[in-house]
Amino acid sequence: MRDILEKAIETHSLNKTEIIGLLNSRTDAGDLFAAADLVRRKFVGADVHLRGLIEFSNICKNNCLYCGLRRDNKALERYRIDKNTILALAKHAKSMGLKTVVLQSGEDVYFDIPKMTEIIAGIKSFGLALTLSTGEKSFREYEAYRKAGADRFLIRIETTDKKLYEENDPGMSWERRVQCMRDLKKLGYELGSGCLVGLPGQTTESLADDILFFKDMSCDMIGIGPFIPHPQTPLKNAAAGSLETALKVMAITRLLLPDINIPATTAMETLAPDGQIRALQAGANVIMPNITLTQFRQYYQLYPGKTTTGYTPDQSLQKVRDKIASIGRTIGQDAGQSKKWLKEHNNQ
Ligand code: 5AD
Ligand code: SF4
Repeated sequence: MRDILEKAIETHSLNKTEIIGLLNSRTDAGDLFAAADLVRRKFVGADVHLRGLIEFSNICKNNCLYCGLRRDNKALERYRIDKNTILALAKHAKSMGLKTVVLQSGEDVYFDIPKMTEIIAGIKSFGLALTLSTGEKSFREYEAYRKAGADRFLIRIETTDKKLYEENDPGMSWERRVQCMRDLKKLGYELGSGCLVGLPGQTTESLADDILFFKDMSCDMIGIGPFIPHPQTPLKNAAAGSLETALKVMAITRLLLPDINIPATTAMETLAPDGQIRALQAGANVIMPNITLTQFRQYYQLYPGKTTTGYTPDQSLQKVRDKIASIGRTIGQDAGQSKKWLKEHNNQ
């Protein structure tokens, strides 16, 4: 195992067998996490970049088996936050010192090109970097957002196992999802993706494929989260993913993509109170504090037990700041663009 880790630290390249070896090893996750921490420090430094997350609509036309926002979950109260409230939240994010705002929603067709471009232009007028996480759209739509000023886009592949993907995301096509990623890259977005860890039927081999896929697709950001069963979904009785495995997938991703951005995800924190701290010490360099208004948070139920429910934007941000300070890390003072993206676009 030491040999594989040394090779990864030096070359940032591993084959599938080596990745599977690291994922299956029962003994040396500590060494793996230390190696990822070292590579993180060397390539992206001590800074943790904050992204203010606004969950602006929980309405979704899709029916992913794992997700509490799926359209067949009739028990969930649905909401949309209007444009002016979104802009007020973004302005507040700016006043709290945040440099990036992430607009996330289910796939809600109400927010069409005219509505989205107005919101995007409004947020950009505050001098913030803007990430969108609103799902699969046409090239034309992604292009309109980009022209309006959106900088980054998050769209997880969820799993590179096409069969597993299409079983879990009925009516959706795996190839279409990959096409969305290509379109975003082509339009010059910083491309964020990622996967779920612990979906029923997912194999270690397919997790290794996920990591290699992130490298192949030249992703600029990768968010990895353990699957957490939601009681109002068809997967309610399935076992949750393991935090340890999710951290391993994340650490190996850092080894292979040394200069990207990697968030310590909320799903990790949901499985253990120190989940995000462990992630920050195993390759992560980003946290996305939730800045959605308290009244809406309880309804953005991708999975149960989200630790951000019940807090205000200011409280959520303070908790994150405290966490970062507690392990001696610093908070990024710039927009925290992906170093990889900057290199590719000759800005550095
Ligand atoms: N557990 C963990 N993560 C989930 N997501 C959706 N449902 C769940 C769940 N039950 C994740 C998906 C999606 C992101 C916004 O939330 O990976 O891309
Ligand atoms: Fe909708 Fe995304 Fe949930 Fe799927 S994972 S149901 S697309 S919000």
